[in-house]
Amino acid sequence: MRKVIIAGNWKMYKTRADALDMLQNFLNHLEPIPEDREIVICAPFTALETLSSALHGTRVRLGAQNIHWEAEGAYTGEISGPMLVDLGVRYVIVGHSERRQYFGETDATVNLRLRAAQRFGLTPILCVGESKQQRDAGETEDLICGQLKEDLQEVDQTNLVIAYEPIWAIGTGETCEAVEANRIIKLIRSQLTNPDVSILYGGSVKPNNIDEIIAQPEIDGALVGGASLAPGDFLRLVDFQS
Ligand code: PGA
Repeated sequence: MRKVIIAGNWKMYKTRADALDMLQNFLNHLEPIPEDREIVICAPFTALETLSSALHGTRVRLGAQNIHWEAEGAYTGEISGPMLVDLGVRYVIVGHSERRQYFGETDATVNLRLRAAQRFGLTPILCVGESKQQRDAGETEDLICGQLKEDLQEVDQTNLVIAYEPIWAIGTGETCEAVEANRIIKLIRSQLTNPDVSILYGGSVKPNNIDEIIAQPEIDGALVGGASLAPGDFLRLVDFQS
């Protein structure tokens, strides 16, 4: 059974006070939202402990935005699985295009991070997606299949979420047409051995397009950046009407 997931990716936004403020406002209005959807907030490392306490006893799950493949070691600036688990983290984004683009993340390191997440009992949210240039050159399908092939080597598909995030649609306000996102997500599913993997769409998901996106048969939810930062917007997203 594919789980429906709405995950917020706060990227490098919010101090602890801002995070708590947003969360309290959000939680105050969460009650009427149907229980059939998983709600995840992937916060910056510095806000994880604060959010973990605030989320205790609620239905909202905590996520991180990166994980190193070793349990500990001389890796300045990195964070490990046991450190995240210690803070009550359940999900972790791996291979976001911003990590691939600006921080030298490769399919090989994405694969290491994915397997580490699983080894430490976390659920990885693997991001794949093409650039505008790759799309215009007709390379989208090959690129995505290639990413999946390398990223998923020896990965347990029973504890995995995938997000299709076309790079040109991230933070640009330019959403991929819902039908096109559905087509690519269908292609992603065809490359998997487990038909029950939840596959999300990400890239300029907003209150005004969430319902159309979720209505697509292959799309199991959304990974949301900008619109997950404000309580009103994020509430509307988790309250999608299908
Ligand atoms: P966006 O970001 O919703 O701001 O486009 C999505 C993401 O990067 O996961």
